Amino acid sequence: MRVLLTGGAGYIGSHTAIALIAHGHEPVVLDDLSNASAEAVRRASELAGREIPLVVGDAGDRELVGRLLAEHRIEAVIHFAGRKAVGESVAKPLEYYRVNVGSAVATLEAMAEHGVRRFVFSSSATVYEQPGPDLREDAPVGIALENPYGRTKAMIEAVVADAAAADPALEAAVLRYFNPIGAHESGRIGEDPHGIPNNLAPFIAQVASGERERLRIFGDDYPTADGTGVRDYIHVVDLAEGHVAALEALEPGVLTVNLGTGRGASVREVLAAFEAAVGRALPHEVVARRPGDAAVSTADPSLAHERLGWRAARSLEDAAADAWRWQSANPRGYRG
Ligand code: WQD
Repeated sequence: MRVLLTGGAGYIGSHTAIALIAHGHEPVVLDDLSNASAEAVRRASELAGREIPLVVGDAGDRELVGRLLAEHRIEAVIHFAGRKAVGESVAKPLEYYRVNVGSAVATLEAMAEHGVRRFVFSSSATVYEQPGPDLREDAPVGIALENPYGRTKAMIEAVVADAAAADPALEAAVLRYFNPIGAHESGRIGEDPHGIPNNLAPFIAQVASGERERLRIFGDDYPTADGTGVRDYIHVVDLAEGHVAALEALEPGVLTVNLGTGRGASVREVLAAFEAAVGRALPHEVVARRPGDAAVSTADPSLAHERLGWRAARSLEDAAADAWRWQSANPRGYRG
């Protein structure tokens, strides 16, 4: 299928573009490059052995999206576009609502105008009101969450549900990512956070490459085996494969699935996996808990396996080795 990837130059989008081509699809990327690089799309094209067209523009621009749907005879849309920094969303809520919810609504409107009925949405485990182990898709989701970022994802899920109720021909999948980690095995593309990384894995990778002095472990007094926070880290290439499986399983209505491994790993276990990949100990210290963090958040991934025939295949060790290969070859990401 000819697939438009809004926000497709980003970490998940660039890996998904490669997976789509490997499965015979033809991705086109729309990205405003506010938090991504055209170099990622160039390298993804190289790796995929096929040119991935990049249009630089705003997924919130309904006219532009409509033009792209027509010009490229798009048959499906995977919507990645959006801001994703939890802390930043608290400081800039209106920008998050405008960009995240606004771009989803504009994209869905352009799709309705042009008769494009297949939609895959990049959601997040952040939508679950009560994080915990083995989260199922029917666990409570709400907007009474800790932060505007999570609320925008929950709101967009509601927008998709209402759009599908109004148009029975809409075929939608909502993918709730747990914690994406790792990089393409080539080391040519990977996670390239702008500024100080909020997330654990890219921060550790930057400690390993010397960009950051030491890892600060946010609390070791959680009710977990080693006292540090436990999350469900899913290799970004497994995540990309999950998008292809969801696209190919689309049918009328909305299918919501977790994309996770079902396995938890603590901060110390992630650190150990990186130290094994790097071949040396990495400097770290325990500091106070980060406000809003949960002790445990892991997926029950069985519905994705049942409905998509997909499950995560790569390990935490694979992800740490792949992330280190990317970081060591590109210590300043795509900025060279
Ligand atoms: C993981 C663990 C921290 C950094 C966030 C978003 C979520 C999703 C994934 C987009 C926790 C600990 C972290 C550090 C640490 N993003 N940690 N030191 O918070 O599970 O989820 O990213 O959808 O929406 O909320 O991921 O990587 O920030 O933290 O000790 O420097 O690592 O306390 O236990 P999180 P994270």
